[in-house]
Amino acid sequence: MRVPVSGCTPTMNENGTGGPSYCSALPGWLPRWGLSVPACYWPFSEETRVNDVTETELWRSLHSLLRGYRSAQVVIACNELGVFEALTRGAQPAVEVAARLGSDPESTRRLLDAGVALGLLIKDGDRYANAQLAQVCLTPDSPWYIGHLASLEAAGYERWGRLAEGVRMGRWPEANRQLEERSGWVRRFELGMYDMARVTAPAIAAAIDLPADRALRLLDVGGGHGGYAMAFARRYPNLTATVFELPAAAEVAREIIAAGGMGDRVTVQAGDFQRDALGEGYDVALLFGVLVSESPAGRLDLLGKVHAALVPGGLVVIRELWSDAADPVRSLEAALFSLHMLLSNGVGDVAMLAEARAWLDEAGFEESGELAVPEWAGSSLLVARKSAGG
Ligand SMILES: C[S@@+](CC[C@H](N)C(=O)[O-])C[C@H]1O[C@@H](n2cnc3c(N)ncnc32)[C@H](O)[C@@H]1O
Repeated sequence: MRVPVSGCTPTMNENGTGGPSYCSALPGWLPRWGLSVPACYWPFSEETRVNDVTETELWRSLHSLLRGYRSAQVVIACNELGVFEALTRGAQPAVEVAARLGSDPESTRRLLDAGVALGLLIKDGDRYANAQLAQVCLTPDSPWYIGHLASLEAAGYERWGRLAEGVRMGRWPEANRQLEERSGWVRRFELGMYDMARVTAPAIAAAIDLPADRALRLLDVGGGHGGYAMAFARRYPNLTATVFELPAAAEVAREIIAAGGMGDRVTVQAGDFQRDALGEGYDVALLFGVLVSESPAGRLDLLGKVHAALVPGGLVVIRELWSDAADPVRSLEAALFSLHMLLSNGVGDVAMLAEARAWLDEAGFEESGELAVPEWAGSSLLVARKSAGG
């Protein structure tokens, strides 16, 4: 298929490989000044269809990939300004929303219109209301609320804006490290992670079959907010849990656990697993999203501590995003997450499942195997047992 680009004379460049030697759509001074313009700067005069895709289609899909940030920023800005919460009071015109948010009315109208175009809001006359998507996922009283996660993703923008720098230098950009030193960072992080755990934790607890007829002790290492420990305690009435966390996160976990009414069965132990022992006598240990941040030596050290904390026959359950060259969907997520670790940690990286099984072997665990969880609940679980002989 040939599609002429308007205003251009379709001729080859002097190498016979690229764009036209003259294009009337470009300013006349370019050739007169004798500027040498690379062939790729000239618009192509015609397109072809290769593998059933035209250049225009490729161009459009890349362009839209490049501008994905705009839609995400509309969600982030609405969330940060409190648009969705303001609209829980019912449909309102832009000026009223702006008055509630303390924002500029005309700019607010533009943001709300973008929210309508993205399916977050609906508009009837001059009044805006939350569409189902925002009502379910972005209003604070909903059990499916992920507004804290949206706020954490907003911080992701700052981190990911330094991707080229991180790759050039081969390390965690200094500005990203400083971001985590800002006050409120730990709270923002744990609340964001808890938004995810509220939805995924019940499915994950349901995937692990534990004896229900006897008292069990569970240790959630780097358990953050405590959401997973609470889900296991809810599923197994004879189970008590300890969340082992750094002091700042431990404070947030205590708050969340108290608010969940689970303070009598889920306790929090402040500590640093890189320096401190984890305790002993546990039947189950969770390592969710923790090993990925550790150095190779740190992972082995931590698995050794977990092994020591378990009773003979005890279970360790690891939840991570594994890299898997044979599974392209998982691989995209894993490739992006590997970059995320470069931008937000500086030490850890995503590993292959087979590597993790080798770490478990080395730490003295046996019978390791992968357990599937529903696709929407994210990464699979790797489960292994401490031998009955200890
Ligand atoms: C990615 S978060 C995972 C939180 C939770 N397990 C989850 O899956 O939602 C990693 C957690 O490990 C905790 N952590 C990191 N280093 C730690 C250390 N040295 N000692 C104790 N906890 C640590 C962090 O505070 C954070 O809450």
